Amino acid sequence: MSDTRPVAVMILAAGAGTRMKSSTPKVLHEIGGRSLVHHALVASAALEPQRTVVVVRHDRDRVAAHIQDIAPDALIADQDDVPGTGRAVFCGLSALDTTAIAAAVAGGAVGDHAVLDAQADGAIVVTSGDVPLVDGALLQALVEAHQAAGNAATVLTAEVAVPKGYGRIVRGDDGAVLGIVEEKDASDAQRAIAEINAGIYVFDAATLRDSLAKVGQDNAQGEVYLTDVLALAREAGGRVGAMIAPDAAAVEGVNDRVHLAQAATAMNRRIVEGWMREGVTVQDPATTWIDSDVTLAPDSTLLPGTQLKGATTIATGAVIGPDTTLTDVEVGEGATVVRSHGTLAVIEAGATVGPFSFLRPGTQLGADGKIGAFVETKNAKIGPGSKVPHLSYVGDATVGEGTNIGAATIFVNYDGVDKHHTNVGSHVRIGSDNTLIAPLTIGDGAYSGAGTTIRHDVPAGALAINSSPQQNVEGWVQRRRPGTPSADAAARAAEANGTRDGLSSGAQEERASAAADTKGEE
Ligand code: UD1
Ligand code: CA
Repeated sequence: MSDTRPVAVMILAAGAGTRMKSSTPKVLHEIGGRSLVHHALVASAALEPQRTVVVVRHDRDRVAAHIQDIAPDALIADQDDVPGTGRAVFCGLSALDTTAIAAAVAGGAVGDHAVLDAQADGAIVVTSGDVPLVDGALLQALVEAHQAAGNAATVLTAEVAVPKGYGRIVRGDDGAVLGIVEEKDASDAQRAIAEINAGIYVFDAATLRDSLAKVGQDNAQGEVYLTDVLALAREAGGRVGAMIAPDAAAVEGVNDRVHLAQAATAMNRRIVEGWMREGVTVQDPATTWIDSDVTLAPDSTLLPGTQLKGATTIATGAVIGPDTTLTDVEVGEGATVVRSHGTLAVIEAGATVGPFSFLRPGTQLGADGKIGAFVETKNAKIGPGSKVPHLSYVGDATVGEGTNIGAATIFVNYDGVDKHHTNVGSHVRIGSDNTLIAPLTIGDGAYSGAGTTIRHDVPAGALAINSSPQQNVEGWVQRRRPGTPSADAAARAAEANGTRDGLSSGAQEERASAAADTKGEE
């Protein structure tokens, strides 16, 4: 492949995006876990341009800060008051030239000639911040078509069923591209043209500079149209061509929230199909959502209703879902996550999570461990083989290996002002319905009885219990809750047992033997 690197890619992102009806600028709306302009930057980066420039205006600071965040090397160009895509490109080109000239002068260049030489020269790709389905491969194909034909300008087009709203490609009898006419300026005959302008171009820099200087605002919208450059370039003797996109849906721009959802669905289909081709089993692609930055290993399985977001990674043999949402979660080999929600968590190999688990940031579940039904965890490192099987909250804790946390145990990490940490050793058996009041350390191999409230450290190997002996106040319900269904039930039970006051015959015997024991001790 010859060197097709363009001198610059320019991303237009100055428009308001009014049809989104949003306080968020259009290009910052997200699909596939990335903003629309982020998708444009990723596609542009595939061309390895010498410079990337993003033209901004609407909500300028917010858009600029976002771009600096994801593409620190990108040049931000401000569009001035003059409206239109042509003006946007003019402003982008000026910023490019200014930067290049400044660099040349700083590098010791002197004289007008040297300064002019520093101006961008070669292929400039212009794309939009609102066409997220256009990827690097499509842009690359356009650049190659442009260079192969020796064009001064090449436009990406698409043949669509409903061309309304788009600029139409006007061709001569011989098929040559004569220019582009905007919907609002088009004749009825031109409106019938099904080939539309996708708004993505490759220009020769010098042609672009010369033609833009001639574009006026004498049109239905009073804007400087970038589209006018094509006819002007042709008039100046340049070759103007078009490449028809193989997939028209991929070049559609996002203008409102209906388009946003359509683009999200299309992008998701592309991502999900990509992973299936890499060996991932996806039972129901339509209800499985995978962000752009997620990675999955072959022979992992996704069940219906699974959403994998952020930088989530899924190792081989893992089974996720159904109905599971994981954001920035690392899932190890052979682990399973059923009907659960997790964020910023690590689930190591062979571990099981769910159903109905809530893994909050800082959860780390060791190999072959278990976080079971109706368990919430946060900032909790749970060691290999350790289990929190049922109905518990584990927050701000470190749990060793092979430990079992009994059902309905609560790690009390918050005293109303500060959070405190709990350390539980290895091979510990916490009984059911325990309350572990942090700060607390429970030593290796310790046990606790059911219903224990653990306020003080438990040494290794000790049994912690603090429940007072159970007391049964016989006959209490019939005396204190007379006439209730409970009292009636107790009365029936008493009758069946042949007693009067609700005391079971067994209880009467126990009482008698307890009395005898006490006597014996005296
Ligand atoms: C533009 C094209 C149209 C094409 C369509 C494809 C022109 C005159 N028309 O129309 O032929 O079919 O895109 O989607 O170019 N922008 C700026 N500054 C501005 C105006 C727009 O940066 O002053 C940016 C927008 O943020 C957006 C892109 O340029 O990213 C396209 O702008 P938009 O208003 O959507 O253009 P269309 O009217 O759709
Ligand atoms: Ca548009």
